[in-house]
Amino acid sequence: MAEVIVALDLPGGSEAIRLLDRLPEARWVKVGSILMTREGPDLIRVLTDRGLRVFLDLKWHDIPNTVAEAVASACALGVSMATVHTLGGTRMMEAAAEAADGRLGVVGVTVLTSHDAVSYARAVGRREADLAREVERQSGEAMRAGLAGVVCSPQEVALVRAVVGAEAWIVVPGIRGHGDTRGDQVRVATAAEAVAAGATHLVVGRPIIQAADPSAVFRGLLEEAQCIGS
Ligand code: C5P
Repeated sequence: MAEVIVALDLPGGSEAIRLLDRLPEARWVKVGSILMTREGPDLIRVLTDRGLRVFLDLKWHDIPNTVAEAVASACALGVSMATVHTLGGTRMMEAAAEAADGRLGVVGVTVLTSHDAVSYARAVGRREADLAREVERQSGEAMRAGLAGVVCSPQEVALVRAVVGAEAWIVVPGIRGHGDTRGDQVRVATAAEAVAAGATHLVVGRPIIQAADPSAVFRGLLEEAQCIGS
Protein backbone atom coordinates (compact mmCIF):
# COMPACT_ATOMS: atom_id res chain seq x y z
CA MET A 1 0.00 0.00 0.00
CA ALA A 2 1.37 3.41 -0.93
CA GLU A 3 0.17 6.95 -1.38
CA VAL A 4 0.11 8.67 -4.77
CA ILE A 5 1.29 12.28 -4.50
CA VAL A 6 0.24 14.59 -7.34
CA ALA A 7 3.18 16.86 -8.22
CA LEU A 8 1.60 20.26 -8.89
CA ASP A 9 4.20 21.27 -11.50
CA LEU A 10 1.91 23.86 -13.04
CA PRO A 11 2.41 27.55 -13.92
CA GLY A 12 0.19 28.91 -11.15
CA GLY A 13 -2.22 28.25 -8.31
CA SER A 14 -5.36 28.58 -10.42
CA GLU A 15 -4.15 25.83 -12.77
CA ALA A 16 -3.34 23.68 -9.71
CA ILE A 17 -6.84 24.15 -8.27
CA ARG A 18 -8.46 23.42 -11.65
CA LEU A 19 -6.52 20.15 -11.82
CA LEU A 20 -7.49 19.22 -8.26
CA ASP A 21 -11.15 19.87 -9.05
CA ARG A 22 -10.80 16.97 -11.49
CA LEU A 23 -9.08 14.71 -8.93
CA PRO A 24 -11.50 14.36 -6.01
CA GLU A 25 -9.73 11.19 -4.83
CA ALA A 26 -6.37 12.95 -4.37
CA ARG A 27 -5.10 12.95 -0.78
CA TRP A 28 -1.52 14.23 -1.22
CA VAL A 29 -0.07 17.02 -3.38
CA LYS A 30 3.50 18.19 -3.88
CA VAL A 31 4.35 21.88 -4.03
CA GLY A 32 7.86 22.60 -5.30
CA SER A 33 10.07 25.66 -5.65
CA ILE A 34 8.37 27.09 -8.73
CA LEU A 35 4.80 27.11 -7.43
CA MET A 36 5.87 28.14 -3.91
CA THR A 37 7.92 31.06 -5.24
CA ARG A 38 5.04 32.16 -7.41
CA GLU A 39 2.13 31.70 -5.00
CA GLY A 40 3.63 31.66 -1.50
CA PRO A 41 2.11 30.20 1.69
CA ASP A 42 -1.46 31.24 0.77
CA LEU A 43 -1.62 28.38 -1.69
CA ILE A 44 -0.54 25.90 1.01
CA ARG A 45 -3.43 27.12 3.18
CA VAL A 46 -5.88 26.71 0.28
CA LEU A 47 -4.65 23.15 -0.24
CA THR A 48 -4.79 22.16 3.45
CA ASP A 49 -8.26 23.76 3.71
CA ARG A 50 -9.34 21.35 0.97
CA GLY A 51 -8.26 18.50 3.27
CA LEU A 52 -5.13 17.72 1.24
CA ARG A 53 -1.81 16.66 2.76
CA VAL A 54 0.96 18.86 1.41
CA PHE A 55 4.47 17.69 0.54
CA LEU A 56 6.59 20.86 0.47
CA ASP A 57 9.54 19.96 -1.75
CA LEU A 58 11.97 22.87 -1.33
CA LYS A 59 15.03 20.61 -0.79
CA TRP A 60 16.61 22.66 1.98
CA HIS A 61 20.43 22.58 2.27
CA ASP A 62 21.64 25.31 4.65
CA ILE A 63 23.10 25.78 8.13
CA PRO A 64 21.24 23.81 10.84
CA ASN A 65 19.55 26.83 12.44
CA THR A 66 18.12 28.11 9.14
CA VAL A 67 16.80 24.70 8.13
CA ALA A 68 15.29 24.14 11.59
CA GLU A 69 13.44 27.48 11.36
CA ALA A 70 12.20 26.64 7.86
CA VAL A 71 10.88 23.28 9.13
CA ALA A 72 9.15 25.02 12.04
CA SER A 73 7.50 27.44 9.58
CA ALA A 74 6.33 24.51 7.44
CA CYS A 75 4.85 22.85 10.54
CA ALA A 76 2.96 26.06 11.36
CA LEU A 77 1.56 26.10 7.81
CA GLY A 78 0.17 22.58 8.21
CA VAL A 79 2.61 20.89 5.82
CA SER A 80 2.79 17.08 6.19
CA MET A 81 6.16 16.34 4.55
CA ALA A 82 9.22 18.39 3.57
CA THR A 83 12.61 17.71 2.01
CA VAL A 84 16.21 18.43 2.97
CA HIS A 85 19.37 17.40 1.10
CA THR A 86 21.17 14.64 3.00
CA LEU A 87 24.49 16.24 1.94
CA GLY A 88 23.57 19.14 4.25
CA GLY A 89 25.10 16.91 6.93
CA THR A 90 24.19 15.15 10.16
CA ARG A 91 23.78 18.28 12.29
CA MET A 92 21.51 19.89 9.72
CA MET A 93 19.34 16.76 9.45
CA GLU A 94 19.19 16.36 13.23
CA ALA A 95 18.13 20.00 13.59
CA ALA A 96 15.41 19.47 10.97
CA ALA A 97 14.10 16.33 12.68
CA GLU A 98 14.11 18.02 16.09
CA ALA A 99 12.23 21.05 14.72
CA ALA A 100 9.63 18.78 13.12
CA ASP A 101 9.19 16.87 16.38
CA GLY A 102 6.85 14.41 14.69
CA ARG A 103 4.52 17.13 13.37
CA LEU A 104 5.68 16.57 9.78
CA GLY A 105 7.90 13.99 8.10
CA VAL A 106 11.28 15.33 7.04
CA VAL A 107 12.69 13.21 4.21
CA GLY A 108 16.23 13.35 2.87
CA VAL A 109 16.92 13.76 -0.84
CA THR A 110 19.84 11.44 -1.63
CA VAL A 111 21.43 11.61 -5.11
CA LEU A 112 19.36 13.77 -7.44
CA THR A 113 17.95 11.76 -10.32
CA SER A 114 19.42 14.34 -12.71
CA HIS A 115 22.96 13.16 -11.77
CA ASP A 116 24.83 10.39 -13.52
CA ALA A 117 28.00 8.88 -12.00
CA VAL A 118 30.29 11.31 -13.83
CA SER A 119 28.44 14.50 -12.85
CA TYR A 120 28.04 13.32 -9.25
CA ALA A 121 31.74 12.42 -8.90
CA ARG A 122 32.66 15.84 -10.22
CA ALA A 123 30.24 17.61 -7.84
CA VAL A 124 31.75 15.90 -4.79
CA GLY A 125 35.36 16.08 -6.01
CA ARG A 126 35.99 12.40 -6.64
CA ARG A 127 37.42 10.53 -9.63
CA GLU A 128 34.45 8.18 -9.77
CA ALA A 129 31.22 7.43 -7.93
CA ASP A 130 28.99 4.42 -7.42
CA LEU A 131 25.54 6.00 -7.29
CA ALA A 132 23.76 3.00 -5.73
CA ARG A 133 26.31 2.81 -2.89
CA GLU A 134 26.11 6.56 -2.43
CA VAL A 135 22.29 6.46 -2.15
CA GLU A 136 22.64 3.57 0.33
CA ARG A 137 25.23 5.48 2.41
CA GLN A 138 23.23 8.72 2.47
CA SER A 139 20.05 6.82 3.41
CA GLY A 140 21.82 5.38 6.44
CA GLU A 141 23.01 8.86 7.47
CA ALA A 142 19.46 10.23 7.11
CA MET A 143 18.00 7.54 9.36
CA ARG A 144 20.74 7.90 12.00
CA ALA A 145 19.96 11.65 12.08
CA GLY A 146 16.31 10.89 12.86
CA LEU A 147 14.62 11.69 9.52
CA ALA A 148 11.30 10.06 8.65
CA GLY A 149 12.63 8.68 5.38
CA VAL A 150 14.38 9.39 2.10
CA VAL A 151 13.74 10.28 -1.54
CA CYS A 152 15.34 8.03 -4.15
CA SER A 153 14.82 6.77 -7.69
CA PRO A 154 12.52 3.77 -8.22
CA GLN A 155 15.50 1.61 -9.09
CA GLU A 156 17.12 2.08 -5.66
CA VAL A 157 14.05 1.37 -3.53
CA ALA A 158 14.85 -2.24 -2.62
CA LEU A 159 18.43 -1.32 -1.69
CA VAL A 160 17.24 1.61 0.42
CA ARG A 161 14.52 -0.41 2.17
CA ALA A 162 17.20 -2.80 3.45
CA VAL A 163 19.05 0.15 5.01
CA VAL A 164 16.19 2.24 6.43
CA GLY A 165 14.11 -0.52 8.06
CA ALA A 166 10.44 -1.35 7.72
CA GLU A 167 8.86 1.86 9.06
CA ALA A 168 10.67 4.62 7.13
CA TRP A 169 9.06 6.51 4.26
CA ILE A 170 10.58 5.93 0.83
CA VAL A 171 9.40 8.65 -1.52
CA VAL A 172 9.84 7.91 -5.20
CA PRO A 173 9.54 10.15 -8.28
CA GLY A 174 10.17 8.84 -11.81
CA ILE A 175 6.97 6.78 -11.99
CA ARG A 176 6.01 5.88 -15.55
CA GLY A 177 3.55 3.42 -17.12
CA HIS A 178 4.87 1.16 -19.87
CA GLY A 179 3.52 3.38 -22.63
CA ASP A 180 4.34 6.75 -20.98
CA THR A 181 6.79 9.34 -22.25
CA ARG A 182 9.80 9.41 -19.92
CA GLY A 183 10.58 13.08 -20.46
CA ASP A 184 13.79 13.91 -18.57
CA GLN A 185 13.42 10.96 -16.17
CA VAL A 186 15.97 8.22 -16.81
CA ARG A 187 15.74 5.73 -13.93
CA VAL A 188 11.99 5.02 -14.08
CA ALA A 189 9.62 2.23 -12.97
CA THR A 190 5.89 1.58 -12.89
CA ALA A 191 3.84 2.34 -9.79
CA ALA A 192 3.37 -1.38 -9.11
CA GLU A 193 7.11 -2.06 -9.40
CA ALA A 194 8.00 0.80 -7.04
CA VAL A 195 5.46 -0.33 -4.43
CA ALA A 196 6.54 -3.97 -4.72
CA ALA A 197 10.12 -2.85 -4.01
CA GLY A 198 9.00 -1.01 -0.86
CA ALA A 199 8.06 2.57 -1.80
CA THR A 200 5.54 4.28 0.50
CA HIS A 201 4.88 7.47 -1.52
CA LEU A 202 4.86 7.77 -5.31
CA VAL A 203 5.36 11.27 -6.72
CA VAL A 204 3.70 11.64 -10.12
CA GLY A 205 3.57 14.80 -12.22
CA ARG A 206 3.45 14.79 -16.01
CA PRO A 207 1.73 11.41 -16.48
CA ILE A 208 -1.27 12.93 -14.63
CA ILE A 209 -0.97 16.64 -15.53
CA GLN A 210 -0.48 16.12 -19.25
CA ALA A 211 -3.11 13.38 -19.62
CA ALA A 212 -6.26 14.00 -21.64
CA ASP A 213 -8.14 12.49 -18.68
CA PRO A 214 -6.07 13.15 -15.51
CA SER A 215 -8.73 11.56 -13.32
CA ALA A 216 -8.62 8.25 -15.17
CA VAL A 217 -4.80 8.16 -14.99
CA PHE A 218 -4.86 9.00 -11.29
CA ARG A 219 -7.41 6.32 -10.50
CA GLY A 220 -5.38 3.81 -12.53
CA LEU A 221 -2.29 4.67 -10.48
CA LEU A 222 -4.19 4.25 -7.22
CA GLU A 223 -5.38 0.85 -8.33
CA GLU A 224 -1.97 -0.19 -9.58
CA ALA A 225 -0.33 0.84 -6.35
CA GLN A 226 -3.21 -0.71 -4.39
CA CYS A 227 -3.71 2.61 -2.66
CA ILE A 228 -6.83 3.64 -0.83
CA GLY A 229 -7.93 6.81 -2.55
CA SER A 230 -10.75 7.90 -0.29
O1 C5P B 1 6.54 14.82 -14.09
P1 C5P B 1 7.20 13.79 -13.21
O2 C5P B 1 6.32 12.64 -12.84
O3 C5P B 1 8.55 13.36 -13.74
O4 C5P B 1 7.45 14.60 -11.85
C1 C5P B 1 8.27 14.13 -10.81
C2 C5P B 1 8.33 15.14 -9.73
O5 C5P B 1 9.26 14.71 -8.73
C3 C5P B 1 8.82 16.54 -10.16
O6 C5P B 1 8.10 17.50 -9.38
C4 C5P B 1 10.29 16.55 -9.78
O7 C5P B 1 10.74 17.85 -9.46
C5 C5P B 1 10.29 15.67 -8.54
N1 C5P B 1 11.57 15.03 -8.24
C6 C5P B 1 12.26 14.25 -9.14
N2 C5P B 1 13.47 13.69 -8.80
C7 C5P B 1 13.98 13.88 -7.56
C8 C5P B 1 13.26 14.64 -6.63
C9 C5P B 1 12.05 15.20 -7.00
O8 C5P B 1 11.78 14.03 -10.25
N3 C5P B 1 15.11 13.30 -7.22
